[in-house]
Order: sequence, then structure tokens, then C-alpha cells
Amino acid sequence: AQLEKGGYDTFMLKEIFEQPSTLRDCLRGRIVDNCRRVTLSGVDLNQERFKSAERITLVACGTSWHAALIGKRLIQDFCKMPVEVEYASEFRYGNPVLNEKDIVISISQSGETADTLAAIELAKAKGAFVYGICNVVGASIPRTTDSGTYIHVGPEIGVASTKAFTGQVTVLTLLALSVGHLRGAIDDATLHEVLSALDKIPETIEEALKVDTEVKKLSRIFSYAHNFLYLGRGYNYPTALEGALKLKEISYIHAEGYPAAEMKHGPIALIDHDMPSVIIAPSDSLYDKIISNVQQVKSRGGAVVAIVSKGNKAMNDIADFCIEIPEVPECLTPLVASIPLQLLAYYIAVNKGKDVDQPRNLAKSVTVE
Ligand code: G6P
Repeated sequence: AQLEKGGYDTFMLKEIFEQPSTLRDCLRGRIVDNCRRVTLSGVDLNQERFKSAERITLVACGTSWHAALIGKRLIQDFCKMPVEVEYASEFRYGNPVLNEKDIVISISQSGETADTLAAIELAKAKGAFVYGICNVVGASIPRTTDSGTYIHVGPEIGVASTKAFTGQVTVLTLLALSVGHLRGAIDDATLHEVLSALDKIPETIEEALKVDTEVKKLSRIFSYAHNFLYLGRGYNYPTALEGALKLKEISYIHAEGYPAAEMKHGPIALIDHDMPSVIIAPSDSLYDKIISNVQQVKSRGGAVVAIVSKGNKAMNDIADFCIEIPEVPECLTPLVASIPLQLLAYYIAVNKGKDVDQPRNLAKSVTVE
């Protein structure tokens, strides 16, 4: 097993550091014409379905559900069509209203999650076209769906998902751009801009991983907190949910992910000196808004770790700690901002002596209801 970990202490750390290469594998051959077009065979072979669809519903569980939330925003922005996101376990018992004009996209690393499989069966029975985004080749879900795309990030062993999450978000970005182009909903300049940045994302993630030592140091300050709040807005509200989930899964610290502005309707009551907040605040369209959320936390005595875009020195005056991430177009910020959050959860769990690859009570794939 030591050999399989490629010199890292754990599979999870190996998988975190593998992300530049797994994303390169995920993107291989899919961005063409000098970053002007996407080829995804699952979309290309079903163009009519994607053109005539009236709505897309994303179904998934766990980390894959967080990827779905980012996918919703990507599809809305680039395809300009209605999108819904559902937990597979809720969708299957929620009497969903679907017809032939619906596309249901199921997202699953393992391709074996029982609730997701059941959601697919139901969607198919109601006439929807079902598209799968999966990692494990030949798993039950890709065998059941009408079409789909593999994320190709290699086997994920750590129970807490890392490289599969970034692979899912990458494929959802490609899919949204591809379908958006097909439907004439995205202009060529935007398509080119996003594809050029996405094409370089392996190098960008490599750069983002350089915060490793800094995050490791920071983790020592926070290992004894009993509660954490993770806040983000827009594209990074799901990133906040995923950051909180990582911490819960492997360190057993209670963490709540919340849309930053919604915090004032409840979680703000919990903030004190013992409850740190991790706030994802890249220099995007909501930056000015999130600054005031940072101030709200600070004025109640809470410590703030801010994830900011490289070169943002202004935040140093407000937050207690800043972690810089490389600048990318807004729609790609979740991919980059997730890196320090994965590392933070990892090092806090290690400081506490937890078994990060095999956290208690959790399974890598949940094949029972
Ligand atoms: C389990 C795993 C999670 C995963 C979830 C969904 O809870 O521990 O890491 O996100 O199942 O799994 P799937 O294979 O469907 O993505």
C-alpha cells in the first residue's frame, strides 16, 4: 500500500496532489480548435436531445451533489435554460414531474450509489433522457444511463472525495460550454475565454497547491475548534458546502457551509471567539458583497480565514488569515478555491490523529438505501 500511495502518507494527500495530472487526463482531447470548441461524444451524438430540451435536472449525493450545484450555475450561465438540482434520495420519492423534453444528469464518482441509480430508473420511466457523469468505467450507472461522460481521474481510494470532485466540475464546465454552443446561447468570445483558461487549469491547480505549507501551518491554530462556518456566494456557495463537508468527514469537527448573505438569518447567532469562519472571497462579481459578510463575522469576534485572489492585499486588513489562489474566470473559481479547503480539512484531521483515508462510519460507495 505504501507503494500505491506514491510516497505520500495517505491516499487522500496523494489524490489532492494528483489533481493537476488527473485534470489533464479529464480534459484530454475534449478542448479542440485552439480553445474554440468542445467535443464530448455524449453530447455530440445526442445533439437533437440537447437542442430541444426544455430543462435539465441534476441528481446526485454527497460531494457529487455539490458538483451538481456548481453545474447548475454553469448551465444557467452558458446554456440559458432552466436547471434544477436534487438529492437523488429526495428526487426518487418526490414525485418529480418529467417528460421527454427533460434531461436528467446524474453525477456519481463510483457509479454504484443506490439512491442515484434509483433516481435514474425513475427518470427513464418518465421519459427523460438520462446522462451520466461518472468516474468508474463500466459501473452500474454508466450501464443504465442513455449516454454520458467519464471524468477519467483514475481510481479514487480516499473516502473523502477530492480529485473526483474537481473532475466532475471540469466535465460539467465542458458540458455547459458544449451544450451552450449547440443551442447558440454562448458567444464565441466567451467560449474562447473560458476554454483557454480551462485548458490551463492543470497548471493553475499546480500553482494553487503551493499553499500547502502555509495551510499546514494554519491548520495548527484551528485544530481545536469544535465548530466551523464556511461561507461563499454565487459560484462559491457550493464550494463552501464542499469545504465544510471535507472537514466534517475526516476531522469530525462540526462545520456548516452557508451562502454568505444568508448567514444573518441564523448562523450569525453562533459566531464567537471559538467559532472560526472560512470565507471564499475571490475577486469576482460578488467580491464587494462578501467583504461586508467578512466584516459582520469580525465584528462578532469570530476569526476569519479568507480565500482570496492572488494580489488582493486589502483583505489582509480585515481577515485574520488570507490564503491566495490564482486568478481565473469567475466560473472556474470553485475548482481553484477547493484546493486550500481540501488541504485545510486534511491537515486538521491529521493534527487530530484521525484516519483520513478510512473515516469512521463512512463508506466510499453507498450501495444501500
Ligand atoms: C459517499 C462517499 C462520498 C460521495 C458520496 C456519493 O458518501 O463517501 O465521498 O460523495 O458517497 O458517491 P458517488 O460515488 O455517487 O459520487
